[in-house]
Amino acid sequence: MQLLNTAIRAAQKGGEVVARYYETGVAREVKDDKSFVTRADKEAEEAIITEIKSQFPDHGFLGEESGKTMGASEYTWVIDPLDGTSNFVNGIPIFGVSVAVLQQGSPVAAAVYQPVGNTLYSAEKGKGTYWNGKPVRVSNGDAQHAMISFGPGKKEKERLNRIFSRVESYVKTKRYLGSAALELAFLARGGTEGFICLGLNSWDYAAGVLIVEEAGGLITHLDGTPWKFGDGDSFIASNGKIHDKLVSLVASVKG
Ligand code: IPD
Ligand code: CA
Ligand code: CA
Repeated sequence: MQLLNTAIRAAQKGGEVVARYYETGVAREVKDDKSFVTRADKEAEEAIITEIKSQFPDHGFLGEESGKTMGASEYTWVIDPLDGTSNFVNGIPIFGVSVAVLQQGSPVAAAVYQPVGNTLYSAEKGKGTYWNGKPVRVSNGDAQHAMISFGPGKKEKERLNRIFSRVESYVKTKRYLGSAALELAFLARGGTEGFICLGLNSWDYAAGVLIVEEAGGLITHLDGTPWKFGDGDSFIASNGKIHDKLVSLVASVKG
C-alpha cells in the first residue's frame, strides 16, 4: 500500500507542475528522437523523483528525462512525467503523468494522473484497478461496437498506418489519441475496447499495462501469445472479448 500511495502522490505532484505550465506557451525543444520536451516535462520529473526518494531513498529509477539510476533494492520506478507532450504543447488536454514501480522487473503498483479533469487511475498487483478511487473493470463491448486506439510509436509506422486504415473491417471505431498511458487507462475503465502498440518506450506503458491487467484486460504479443512486461515494446491490449479480432487485424497486415 505504501508503494501505491507513493505512486499516486508522486503522479499528482508531477501533475501539479504540468498543469501550472499548460496553456502558458512554454517553449518546446526537439529531442534526438524528434519528440518534444519542455520545462514542464523536466520539472515534473524532478518533483516526482523527489517525492519518491523521500519515501524510498534506496530505490532505483528509470525516468524518460533523467535516464537510469541504479538503486540498492529490488524496486525500480519507471516514470513518464508528461505523456502526450505533443498534445500538451498544442493545447489538447489529452496528456498524463505515468508512474509505476517494478519489483524485480515487474510492475506492482501504478498511477496515471490526468491533470485536466483531475482524474486518477491506479492499480496494485492483485488488488484491482481504481478510477478516482472507485473499482473499475474493462468493458464487455463486442467488436461491432468497439473503439480501439493506437500507440503510433517510432517503429513500423508504415505498418501501423496500414493497420489503421483497415480497422473498420474488424471493429467499429479507431483513434490516435497521443498518450499511451491514458489510452491504456481509458481501456481499463471501459472507455475503449482495445489498444494496439507497435513500439513505444517502457515508461509510456509501465503503469498502463498493470492498470489494464488489474481491470481484467488482456495483453499479448502481436501474434496473440502471452506478453509480460520486459518482453518488448509492441503488444495488443484489449478487454479480452475482442482480442482475437485485433490479433487477426494485425496479422492481416504483414510487417
Ligand atoms: C508519446 C505518447 C504517444 C506515442 C508517442 C510517445 P511523449 O510520449 O505516448 O502516445 O504515440 O510515440 O512518444 O513523448 O509525449 O512522452
Ligand atoms: Ca511518453
Ligand atoms: Ca514524456
